[in-house]
Amino acid sequence: MRILLTGCCGQLGQELRSRLLPLGRLYATDSKTPDDEHQLFSLDLTDRGALLRILDKLQPDVIVNTAAWTAVDAAENQPELANLINVEAPQVMAEWAAVNHALLFHYSTDYVFDGDNTQSWREDDSTNPISVYGQSKLDGENVIRDSGCQHIIVRTSWVYSSHSNNFVRTMLQLAATRNSLQVVDDQRGCPTLAGNVADVTVQILKQLESIKSNHLSGVYHYTDDRPLAWCEFADQIFSRAKKIELIRDQPEVIPVDSSVFQTTAKRPLYSILNCEKITQVFGVHQKSFSQALGSCLANIQLNDSNTPNT
Ligand SMILES: NC(=O)c1ccc[n+]([C@@H]2O[C@H](COP(=O)([O-])OP(=O)(O)OC[C@H]3O[C@@H](n4cnc5c(N)ncnc54)[C@H](OP(=O)(O)O)[C@@H]3O)[C@@H](O)[C@H]2O)c1
Repeated sequence: MRILLTGCCGQLGQELRSRLLPLGRLYATDSKTPDDEHQLFSLDLTDRGALLRILDKLQPDVIVNTAAWTAVDAAENQPELANLINVEAPQVMAEWAAVNHALLFHYSTDYVFDGDNTQSWREDDSTNPISVYGQSKLDGENVIRDSGCQHIIVRTSWVYSSHSNNFVRTMLQLAATRNSLQVVDDQRGCPTLAGNVADVTVQILKQLESIKSNHLSGVYHYTDDRPLAWCEFADQIFSRAKKIELIRDQPEVIPVDSSVFQTTAKRPLYSILNCEKITQVFGVHQKSFSQALGSCLANIQLNDSNTPNT
């Protein structure tokens, strides 16, 4: 199997690199400069011509598209750029995949919903994004579906990992300097470890023949298993980090309404995704939040202890 991976230096892309290698010939790309030692190739998805040339040259059987404009607030002021990366690039991939009988594996978000719900969102619930980012991700889903290519779109939420910028790492940085901090208590979702989404991707790709012969293209939800408010997530991070001595003192978390923090983009209040379909179709079960956060913090500790003091 020939696999083209985009966004290989992002949270999910990094986790996928090692996991996809055993499945076939992997071509890992990102917008950054090429790195011969690590077999990384440069591909700027805003360059439609370059994308098409790479697809024609590499002839992938599977395109795993983790690359995205993920800066939710910045998207409000730069919708054209967000659309180039989140809509037009997936459209090029999807149309190429339709003609060349390839599979497009793509990722989307809980932000396609407006958050106005009391039950977990199902794949076929009405979408109604309330941000430019959410709208661009929904438009990306739609162009993929309309292309007629074989595709799997996994919607996930609140992704974190031991590397890159994310909520867990931000909280740990704040813990070094703050005795207390205000964290939002009225937005609920399921924090999800990037490595778990990578595992799910591999589990599904191993069923490639079944996807093709049973027409399993579509949208699937996957998150780890624990719904939390951001302030509860912060509490979990601090108490576990303190226990393994990753932080010295545990800051007090003060729950506040999201109106206290004026952000450029609106976020959905209720973001919990129903994950029954992915279990029924692919046998994928939601992984434990508790284990996921534990392993993330342990990895951060390991990386810190391996980083020489400067
Ligand atoms: N993070 C979340 O909480 C979350 C939640 C739900 C869904 N998702 C979805 O999950 C997927 C993976 O997210 P993630 O957290 O791994 O994102 P991420 O860490 O922000 O990584 C995105 C990657 O895309 C690359 N990229 C951006 N613009 C590019 C361009 N013009 N050309 C080529 N590459 C470009 C970035 O490279 P540079 O840094 O070099 O630009 C980066 O490596 C995305 O589809 C995202 O929408 C994420």
